[in-house]
Amino acid sequence: MNGLRELVSALAQKHGTRRESLLPILQGIQAHEHYLSDDAMVEVARALDLSTAQVYGTATFYSFLVTRPQGRHVIRLCRTITCVMHGKNQLLKELETLLKVRVGETTADGLFTLLETNCLGQCHQGPAILIDDEPYTRLTPERIRVIVAEYQQKAALESENSGLINS
Ligand code: FES
Repeated sequence: MNGLRELVSALAQKHGTRRESLLPILQGIQAHEHYLSDDAMVEVARALDLSTAQVYGTATFYSFLVTRPQGRHVIRLCRTITCVMHGKNQLLKELETLLKVRVGETTADGLFTLLETNCLGQCHQGPAILIDDEPYTRLTPERIRVIVAEYQQKAALESENSGLINS
């Protein structure tokens, strides 16, 4: 909790403690902690003299803020109409089968969280997803299999390398 208090205090110093500082502070915590825990939201409420309900309301309003731990990579699949018309549902089915999760869940190995989101601004190239901050467009089930495999290979390689470094 102390580390959290220090983080919130540093962010409050950077962004200020007015009501409009709430969003950048929450984004700063998420960038550091990967999600907004209950403890973090209580700490922010204290620092900004807001109720925890106000902080929680903001944290749950924006789809890019998350209040549960997530996988190392977050896949956000566009669920808006143009992407639906371009095959979003087949893509979702493929992702759920491939990752063995439903929307909102994290894979057993903690590598991916699968989410749906509103329009990503890539409508003319749908169906589209974001993996973390990286957009992928004109996707097909075949292409998504290749992309997921690349992330899995990269993760396996990183864990192999960190094993070598630690041994
Ligand atoms: S509708 Fe999917 S990116 Fe706009």
